[in-house]
Amino acid sequence: MQFTVAIDGPAAAGKGTISKAVAAHFGFAHLDTGLLYRAVGARVLGGDEAIFAAQSLAVSDLEQSNLRTNEVAHAASEIAVIPEVRAALLEFQRSFSARDGGAVLDGRDIGTVICPDADVKLFVTASAQVRAARRFQEFSQTGVETSLSEVLADVIARDKRDSERATAPLVAALDAVLIDTSDLTIEAATARAVAAIEAALQTQA
Ligand code: CDP
Ligand code: CDP
Repeated sequence: MQFTVAIDGPAAAGKGTISKAVAAHFGFAHLDTGLLYRAVGARVLGGDEAIFAAQSLAVSDLEQSNLRTNEVAHAASEIAVIPEVRAALLEFQRSFSARDGGAVLDGRDIGTVICPDADVKLFVTASAQVRAARRFQEFSQTGVETSLSEVLADVIARDKRDSERATAPLVAALDAVLIDTSDLTIEAATARAVAAIEAALQTQA
């Protein structure tokens, strides 16, 4: 069975958390596509050229321990504007989405560019303040020295670059279900996603 769930949205909206929860709930495979861009960004910080890094990306690049830092997120959003970088990463994401048994992909352009025919599209968002506070808490818990205002500024700058780029900008697909997690617990947000997926599965049964 092929069944694709596309989850897009801005930084720290809860895409990854919801993706993992619904993938576990339905037994689908999950791909965090942000990790691909972060891995290319990390290679560029290490001195590689961006298009070469995207074209030669290896599993070992995805296993680096520094991919969740602010510095790498920033580098990821800079290389993500390059059309050849996006093109180099497209086929891997498309084949992942077509795997047997169902797939959840989360990112920025899954419902619009990577999987325009996805069975379910979710656009997960939250206010910039809420998202920055969540990301700041994650950083604090892992001992990263930063401030809430710095994280907020980074989140806003990255959202702006992601939304304004010419190729595959961050935008909700017209047929996406909007989930604003600003005032939702993880459980409540996940329940909305599960309900949308169940409804789509039923129409196909
Ligand atoms: O994948 P994305 O960057 O969109 O966000 P995430 O990594 O799933 O979530 C960012 C943080 O917000 C995590 O620490 C989640 O536990 C938290 N979160 C939350 O507090 N409430 C939600 N409804 C969703 C996520
Ligand atoms: O977890 P968070 O939402 O903060 O970031 P991420 O999903 O890991 O993505 C990091 C960066 O990669 C984003 O700011 C985008 O610039 C880029 N990205 C993209 O352009 N397209 C995707 N499908 C996923 C990520």
